[in-house]
Amino acid sequence: MNYEPDNHSSIERLAGFIYRFFPAHDAAKSVESFLLLHGTGGDENDLLSLGQMLAGGRRDVALLSPRGQVMESGMPRFFRRLAEGMFDEADLIRRTHELAGFIEQATQKYTLDENRITAIGFSNGANIAASILLLRPGLLRRAVLFHAMVPLVPGELPDLSGTPVFLGAGRLDPIVPTENTERLAAMLHEAGAEVELFWHMGGHRLTREEVEKAKQWLAK
Ligand code: MLT
Repeated sequence: MNYEPDNHSSIERLAGFIYRFFPAHDAAKSVESFLLLHGTGGDENDLLSLGQMLAGGRRDVALLSPRGQVMESGMPRFFRRLAEGMFDEADLIRRTHELAGFIEQATQKYTLDENRITAIGFSNGANIAASILLLRPGLLRRAVLFHAMVPLVPGELPDLSGTPVFLGAGRLDPIVPTENTERLAAMLHEAGAEVELFWHMGGHRLTREEVEKAKQWLAK
């Protein structure tokens, strides 16, 4: 894949989302799609190079990167929050289903393999990916959640048996308390997901180390 400016996909709109899509090089094979979900203040361009890095030269990976529809002081997000770490649950539930609708429509539009969608989210994007796992089980084949929190506690735990989830987290993250990450890991594990939790000694930023671990995990 090449994300140089002259090779950029155009900015598209689907199901109310602005997004970018890069098809896999090798369209003949069954294509895995990386759904890239940015953090607060990011946009559809933010995680393209991360997606490319995590794909590690594979030719059978497509990138689908939507922009969150909520604006907080000019910063795009995937759902509203009332304060740092305090989410507007009704909005989160609605936006989770809207994003799920976008994924379904994009899957049809680009004839992607619906059984090979891997979410890769950072912070706010990881939180909505976790919410999709909890509210729309089966939509994501696997997920890489960097610096995620418990997005909500569902009335009933979904069945996530056989869904691999990688969590990357920082022991010194000022936004996501250690205990919250552990609660999310436990919840996903209880739902049957195969959880791998990787800690580093950093804060809320992505580290090279956790990206490398995620890459190895994705290649398994
Ligand atoms: C959120 O979803 O609000 C995150 O946990 C923090 C952030 O995006 O800044």
